[in-house]
Formats: sequence, structure tokens, C-alpha cells
Amino acid sequence: MTRTVTITDNMTGKQVECPVLEGTCGPPVINTKSLYKELGMFTFDPGFVTTASCRSAVTYLDGEKGVLLHRGYPIEQLAEQSTFLEVVYLLIHGELPTRKQMDEWAHAIKMHMMTHEHISRFYSAYRYDAHPMSIMAGVANAIASYYHDRTDIWDPDNRLITARRIIAKMPNVASKCYRYASGLPFVYPDNARSYVENFMYMTFSWPTEEYTPSAAAVRALDLLFILHADHEQNASTSTVRLAGSSEANPFACIAAGITTLWGKSHGGANEAVVRMLEEIGSTSNIPKYVARAKDRKDPFRLMGFGHRVYKNYDPRAKIIRKACHDLLEEEKLNQPLFEIAMELERIALEDEYFIKRKLYPNVDFYSGLIYQALRIPTSMFTVMFALARSAGWVAQWMELMKDRDFRIGRPRQLYIGRQTRDYVPIEER
Ligand code: CMC
Repeated sequence: MTRTVTITDNMTGKQVECPVLEGTCGPPVINTKSLYKELGMFTFDPGFVTTASCRSAVTYLDGEKGVLLHRGYPIEQLAEQSTFLEVVYLLIHGELPTRKQMDEWAHAIKMHMMTHEHISRFYSAYRYDAHPMSIMAGVANAIASYYHDRTDIWDPDNRLITARRIIAKMPNVASKCYRYASGLPFVYPDNARSYVENFMYMTFSWPTEEYTPSAAAVRALDLLFILHADHEQNASTSTVRLAGSSEANPFACIAAGITTLWGKSHGGANEAVVRMLEEIGSTSNIPKYVARAKDRKDPFRLMGFGHRVYKNYDPRAKIIRKACHDLLEEEKLNQPLFEIAMELERIALEDEYFIKRKLYPNVDFYSGLIYQALRIPTSMFTVMFALARSAGWVAQWMELMKDRDFRIGRPRQLYIGRQTRDYVPIEER
């Protein structure tokens, strides 16, 4: 028997039977497509709190249990045993690669790492102190113009080449955002290096010196990239899908995702966390800030706390917290903010306000501390997130383009403006 949900309009007595769709995990969803036709009504769900916007087989998360799976693989296993580049392959292709597939994939990515030389000139249009996220979004969009006529978004092979280009060029684009602001010359990728090491090389090396980052630093960054690679239908991913649904150029879709990620409720939180911890300054000040976060009249919120979907400890935060601790120990780094962060977490998690609202540290609470330990400037933190999240954006865009329900995204609204009225000439107003 097909499961349905009957919706009744108690004013008219009219009914509509909506089919219930079952996924492989998670709550079933009600297909409300016939609602408007049958009842003349839309659904209302600001913030899309209970709306499934698409079918997807890429990432599953259970916010109540704190579970995150990419293509079925738990994030804890990927974090422990995989690499970022392998996770990107998994997200895009749906399966883990064989050794041969992995070698071909890594080689193909290396072959696409360069950007057109003119792209480098594009950076100089930005003010010397421009926020790197602004530069990144602009440059990603500019790259769209280099491939526009050559990109057939309806051809699967073409989509795969586009995916490789995006994954390969993001470290290059991101590194230049940093170097432009620092007045350092741009560095070409070095194919002898791994994906993450190449990013660090392009970002931090000096033309006058040999550069080899520590293995612990490369590992820590690779781990952070894995943990940020994809996260279901979040705000930036939904933006990429919406842009993609209009058949826009894929680089332009990624630029739209970067723009959405920038906000401090989303990816910008990693930057905001470190700024907040610096402002708190000492563990003795924590109670004052916790009190402010609880005060409804105060707009201050604990950055890196709370999540739309996780009502349990964010599994990514658990992994990052440990990685942060290990990196600081291994590299013998002094990170006073880590101490403040841990104490803040302890106090908040014992506080009735946070317990009642199920507010736990999220992925961004500790990630900035690792970036800081790696000497990545605070304004670059969200760029790091965008670099990694490009993997998820691409995978979700590719899935969208072959969705049997593909059509332009076009939400409806509850109109609360003026009804029809006559235009009044300016002299008579
Ligand atoms: N500090 C203090 N109170 C909070 C916080 C916080 N960080 N987050 C939520 N609340 C309270 C909120 O005031 C509300 O209280 P009440 O029920 O009394 O009105 C309740 O908890 C529910 O919050 P909400 O605003 O309805 O939750 P939301 O799902 O709309 O927002 C969020 C989720 C992530 C935007 C929000 O928790 C927040 O602003 N957190 C801080 C920013 C942050 O860390 N963002 C990163 C998110 S994870 C990475 C990513 O997505 O990129």
C-alpha cells in the first residue's frame, strides 16, 4: 500500500491526498506538489526548516544522533583513513576509487591546477585590504568567462571536466587571495606536491627559500578540508543548486556559493569565533559573555555554537577538537585561545540555556584555532572553508544536472503587501 497523508481544508472540506516518499535514511517526506492544484494553497516554511528541496544521494546527516555520512561512509572513518582528494572523488563519483582510479584522479587534478595568466591580473582590481572572500567570489566568477562557450552542462563528460577544473583551481585561486593582500608574488603550482601541500606551497612559500611544510601541518589541513567537504543542503549548497537550476555557468554557481558561505551564520563563523575568543581574552571573562549570549536583548551569540540541524554534538567538531589538541602538542605550539575555547565549551554545556536549546559546538568552533596555529590569517579562514566546500558544491551541482526532476528553482511566497490600487499622479499625492 502506498503511504499517503491527507490534508483537509476545514473551511471548505476539500481534501488532498499527498504521497509520502521514503528515502534510504531519515524521515519520509510529503510530496505536496498537488496541493496548489487541488486546494489552491502553497506551503509556508521560512528558513526551509522542514522542506526537502531535492532528492540527494551525496550526504546524509542525522542531527539528533550527530551522524554524518558521505555516500554512506561515516565522517569519522573518512577523517581517520582517507584524504581530501579521495573524499572529493567519493562525493563526485559516488564510490571510493581503486588505486588506479585514484592515481588518474590525482593526476587529472594536477593537470588542471593552473589558471589562465590573465586571471592573475584580475586580483589587482581589488583594494589592498579587500576581504579575501570578496576576491574569491569575484575571481571564481571571472573564471566562468574562460570556459563559457566550451562548457556544455548537459554533457556528462563535460561536467566531469568542469568538476576537475573547479577542484583543481580553487587552491590556486585561494592562495592568490592571500598573497595579493600580503604583497607577495603569485606562485605557480608544483606538480611534485600533493593537493594540500601544493596549496600551502602556493600560499606560504617565499621565492627566495625552499618550502616544505611539516607533515603534521599538511595532515591537519587535509583533515580540515575533509571535514568541510560537504554538508547536505546547507545555505551555500542550496544557493549553488538554485543558481545551477537556471542553467548558469558552473563557475558562476560556485561564486554564488562562496558569497553565501561568507556570512557569519554560515562559513564566516570560523572567523567570528576567533575574533570572539580574542575579545573574551581570558577565561575569567567567560561568564560575562555567556550571560550576554543568553540575553535576548543583546544581539551577541556564541559564535561556533548551535546548528540548524545538529541538536547533538556536531561530529565534525569532536574530530577537530582532538586534532587541534594533537597539533598543538605535536608542534609544541602555544595557543592560549584553545584554553579559552575549551573552558567556554565546558561552561556553556553545563548551562541550562544551552542544554534546553540543544546548542553544542559546531564545526567552526575549533577549526579557526587550527588555522591560526598554521599561521593562516583570520580573514582567510572562510576562504579555506570555501576551498574545501567546493567539493560538495560540485558534487551537488552534478547531481542536480542529472536529476529527473530538474527544473528551475522557483519558491512561492505569502504576499503581505498592498492590494491593487490606482496610480496617483505626483501633483495629487
Ligand atoms: N548563542 C546563543 N543562543 C543561540 C545560539 C548561539 N550561538 N544559537 C542559537 N541560539 C538560540 C536562539 O537565540 C534561539 O533561542 P530562543 O529559542 O530563546 O529564541 C534558539 O537557540 C534556536 O536558535 P535559532 O536561531 O532558531 O536556530 P537556527 O537554526 O535558526 O540557527 C545558527 C542556527 C547556526 C544560525 C545559530 O545557532 C547561530 O547563529 N550560531 C552561531 C553562528 C555559527 O556558529 N554558525 C555556524 C554554523 S555551522 C557551520 C556552517 O553552517 O557553515
